[in-house]
Amino acid sequence: MERWNGRVALVTGASVGIGAGLCRALVQHGMVVVGCARSVDKIRAIAEEDDVKAAPGKLVAIKCDLTKESEILSLFDEIRQTFGRLDVCINNAGLGFDMPLLTASTSAMRNILDVNILALCICTQQAVKLMQEKGVDDGQIIHISSVGGHFMPTVGFMGAHFYCSTKFMVRALTEGLRRELKALNSHIRIASLSPGLVDTEFFNNYFKEDPSVMSSGLFDNIKALETKDMADSVIHILKAPPHVEIHDIIVRPYDM
Ligand SMILES: NC(=O)c1ccc[n+]([C@@H]2O[C@H](COP(=O)([O-])OP(=O)(O)OC[C@H]3O[C@@H](n4cnc5c(N)ncnc54)[C@H](OP(=O)(O)O)[C@@H]3O)[C@@H](O)[C@H]2O)c1
Repeated sequence: MERWNGRVALVTGASVGIGAGLCRALVQHGMVVVGCARSVDKIRAIAEEDDVKAAPGKLVAIKCDLTKESEILSLFDEIRQTFGRLDVCINNAGLGFDMPLLTASTSAMRNILDVNILALCICTQQAVKLMQEKGVDDGQIIHISSVGGHFMPTVGFMGAHFYCSTKFMVRALTEGLRRELKALNSHIRIASLSPGLVDTEFFNNYFKEDPSVMSSGLFDNIKALETKDMADSVIHILKAPPHVEIHDIIVRPYDM
């Protein structure tokens, strides 16, 4: 990880869950981490944690609603002006709702598409543009996808089809970006990380229309992954030597 020391990483969805875990891990490796989300105070609170303050890197919070293109562009302007470069972009922010295709509201589908797909694409465009401007030819883009991008759950998740469809698209976007970067003879690499169940707030939000599902024992027999497990996989991607492009890592809880 020495080569990333002092270099700049963007983590989207940094306020809680996997994104917060990634920020905590990357500062321990000396990276300057820009964490963005709407709940910017939560990122500021992470930056004040003892372990983060004592780390060789630092965490800087920037407020951004990823459903608004203008806010994403401002985020990148601020990174350009404040840090002058970007070396790693982790498209982590994402959400889903329990909603069958036949009854899902357009506004909910648009919200998921905006964050899971459009924001991921715009951030990737802007990140690669900034890397190219600054001559960063060994940058790394990482999409946080899902096992739901590889297969549709067969039991108990009739409301996950739209969410899974966005993650299937992330898989296609990963391969598309790989081909475009290769055609440019760029050495910027793209990886996707596809977790199964991780212990975060994701499913509280997913089942927000019927919170009783969360207390019904749905996940009682599964020891979920921890955010640290995700951070370990991201570090593994970042550690890969130049001739290795890690394409997609699936990490499941053992019980799943
Ligand atoms: N947890 C799991 O079991 C699981 C499994 C497979 C894949 N994943 C994927 O892992 C990623 C992270 O999920 P998580 O489990 O950490 O979820 P989480 O705990 O619900 O966190 C989601 C993050 O996304 C941010 N976000 C949502 N809407 C946003 C918006 N409009 N603008 C800016 N940020 C926004 C949230 O920040 P604010 O609300 O503060 O804006 C929050 O930081 C997602 O892509 C998810 O699909 C999770």
